[in-house]
Amino acid sequence: MARTVRRPSRLQGTIHVPGDKSISHRAALLGALATGTTRVRHFLAAGDCLATLSCLRALGVEWQLTEEEPGVATLELAGAGLHGLREPDDVLNVENSGTTLRLLPGILAGQPFTAVLTGDASLRTRPVDRIIEPLRQMGAQLVARDGDRLPPLTVRGGSLQGIRYRPPVASAQVKSAVLLAGLFAEGETVVEEPLATRDHTERMLRQMGADVVREEPTPDGPPSGGNVRLQPPKSLSPLDLKVPGDISTAAFWLVAGAVHPEAELTLPDVGINPTRTGLLDVLSMMGATIDIGEQRMAGEEPVADIRITSSRLQGVEVGGELVPRLIDELPALAVAAAFAQGRTVVRDAAEMRVKETDRIAVLTSQLRRLGVAITERPDGFEIEGGGGLRGAAVSGAGDHRLTMALAIAGLLAEGETVVEDDDAVMVSYPGFWSDLEQLSHH
Ligand code: S3P
Repeated sequence: MARTVRRPSRLQGTIHVPGDKSISHRAALLGALATGTTRVRHFLAAGDCLATLSCLRALGVEWQLTEEEPGVATLELAGAGLHGLREPDDVLNVENSGTTLRLLPGILAGQPFTAVLTGDASLRTRPVDRIIEPLRQMGAQLVARDGDRLPPLTVRGGSLQGIRYRPPVASAQVKSAVLLAGLFAEGETVVEEPLATRDHTERMLRQMGADVVREEPTPDGPPSGGNVRLQPPKSLSPLDLKVPGDISTAAFWLVAGAVHPEAELTLPDVGINPTRTGLLDVLSMMGATIDIGEQRMAGEEPVADIRITSSRLQGVEVGGELVPRLIDELPALAVAAAFAQGRTVVRDAAEMRVKETDRIAVLTSQLRRLGVAITERPDGFEIEGGGGLRGAAVSGAGDHRLTMALAIAGLLAEGETVVEDDDAVMVSYPGFWSDLEQLSHH
């Protein structure tokens, strides 16, 4: 269905954004390997993480979800231990979830059985060669369609050897797949990151008692995001945690609050892990008034309340080591750039093209419909800011983050914007449309 959005005269209120998607996936996957019962509050009960849970059930893991409000639930999951998974009797469907597609094979690589992963039409265009390569080096057998490039992906697990691996792309999913396989390997596993990426897997493994250390890059050495070193554990302790609010979800309200001339938004308990806060840094560079409250710890993850008020934004240049710290927030940032004074350039972000859609191409075509002066680049985009957006019919091509970014653009434009396929938000933020209404004062 389509949704119509209009600019409210005021944007005001407090929104508890749902749980972090990356952390929720990891809590389910790692909890499944623990010895004992894992309890996860504020678990993201949305499409992608539900897909992970249904794959785990097919692998013999029992769990229960108690939903408190749309997208927010408590998960109780009975860990099978490191060696307790069973062979699924059918294909595993990861639906739209790239994180499940890349992380679960890391676990499957160490199992004495065979499993096949597939997903929806978008998922079947997502590259898997990036995980096939290191998992083969460790000793598992993997095959995929299109010359071992695209799902469906078959994983036949085996006895693994630890490796030292430098992924060709900076990817937390690839790093995590290798570390998960490392749990089952003989000897240590080391991942050398070309650029630092989100480190939730490492933090959670540490919380569960595993020996995971990070070595910072040396200032005079080659360009590097540091090394992660894992020793295979005998067992993992279960988790008891509350998942921080997802900063990638908060991103839409941060941009709406910064751009709208009458805005004051409060977002309590948002995760501010420094590997994820690139958007906060960039919005500050653009001149946004962001207040980050006192930092607390939720398990191994830092959280804080964030407050944002109407701001005058300037264009900005984004590239290099910042990119992995805001890769999923670039669609939202493009909307901020459209209203900023001057030019914004995003480079080194070619990875956007292999997300749920080609985000550079779809963002460019759809923002143009709203009147944004945006130019596509091979590895990003350029925007001449200044506002002046006019409502139009737009579509995020079924991509949850593009759909929400376009809805925010519509919320800030003149006139009416019709956002097609509103259900796309179910992948990561089932309450998005009702929260948008709650904040909008007409
Ligand atoms: C994720 C890592 C990122 C991100 C994705 C979630 C994760 O992907 O875009 O939404 O949870 O590890 P890459 O690892 O492909 O950069």
